[in-house]
Amino acid sequence: MKKLLKGAAALTALALALGAGCTGKGAGETQNRGAAAAKIGVAMPTKSLQRWNQDGDNLKRQLEAAGYAVDLQYGGENDIQIQVGQIENMIAGGVKVLVIAAIDGGSLTEALKAAKEKNIPVIAYDRLIMNSDAVSYYATFDNTKVGAMQGQFIVERIDLANAAGPFNIELVTGAPDDNNVNFFFGGAMSVLKPHIDSGKLVVQSGQTTIAQCATPNWSSEESQKRFENLIQTYNYRPGGTKLDAVLCSNDSTSIGVTNALVGAGWNRDNFPITTGQDCDLPAVKNILAGVQTMSVFKDTRILAEKTVGMVDALIKGSQPEINDTTTYDNGTGVIPSYLCEPVVVTLDNYKAMLLDSGYLQESQIQ
Ligand code: GAL
Repeated sequence: MKKLLKGAAALTALALALGAGCTGKGAGETQNRGAAAAKIGVAMPTKSLQRWNQDGDNLKRQLEAAGYAVDLQYGGENDIQIQVGQIENMIAGGVKVLVIAAIDGGSLTEALKAAKEKNIPVIAYDRLIMNSDAVSYYATFDNTKVGAMQGQFIVERIDLANAAGPFNIELVTGAPDDNNVNFFFGGAMSVLKPHIDSGKLVVQSGQTTIAQCATPNWSSEESQKRFENLIQTYNYRPGGTKLDAVLCSNDSTSIGVTNALVGAGWNRDNFPITTGQDCDLPAVKNILAGVQTMSVFKDTRILAEKTVGMVDALIKGSQPEINDTTTYDNGTGVIPSYLCEPVVVTLDNYKAMLLDSGYLQESQIQ
């Protein structure tokens, strides 16, 4: 509630500062009449993953189409200090709204104090920014559902309801400084933990906490290294210890795990069930090659569209569209959020979901 009021306050302050009203016209018409286009700062974490490149491109294109000028920056290779500097420059450079996908959700508290002082609303993009009362809104996917879908997929593919078991599983999640990990891992464990507790799913390594399963920076090299160790220690090989499933919170971690598993002799005929998230191109190729079983598709075009809608509403002094006011507390209160819907993608539906929708081109996956 506190945050809802704060969101509304940010909105009123910005509208007053801009002298904007709700004309019912397109943003471009409102923005460009007689004045320079309002500048929107967009901070993305890294270019090293396909999804953030798409996020940045989509946001820039859609914001420009709506009549805004865009300052789009990427934080090097997930470099926190670079991102902090970029955000400070955006604030000093007069942006009217900030859209930020944080590298480290807890590292922006200081930098965003200046945004608050200047009545610049901050939209947390995909990842929640923690411990800052400058955050007005949050646009993301239903992150708990992403994890639950991965867990449910494993349960159904193994057919835990009917199969005797026990089945071996290992767990891999992402960067511990990314608040999303709590929701991805939490969602997955809400489905898997009862089966681990009952003994039907067995984690031979005993590594079941976020800290034990984390992958710094969501790095494929790091998840590969950890998994090679697990293979070595527990002899997870065809002919050795059977490995039935690996929960991977996203595609970049899944790619590292796949590399390790292929290196240990697993192939498309006996490959353990592996999950992912993002439908990044290399992961989709792995799905087609039978060395990753699923990914969770989060259409970044829709997330960008919802975020641009929020920006536009803030600039015009109207109420941004939200659909969740209970889930995401950033340590200063609940941040009003819009949660987009994730979708499970497998060999069975990738054509409809990814190709027919134009998200990927057929030529890219051949
Ligand atoms: C998460 C994001 C995922 C994935 C991951 C690695 O915060 O929600 O889609 O991309 O970061 O960058």
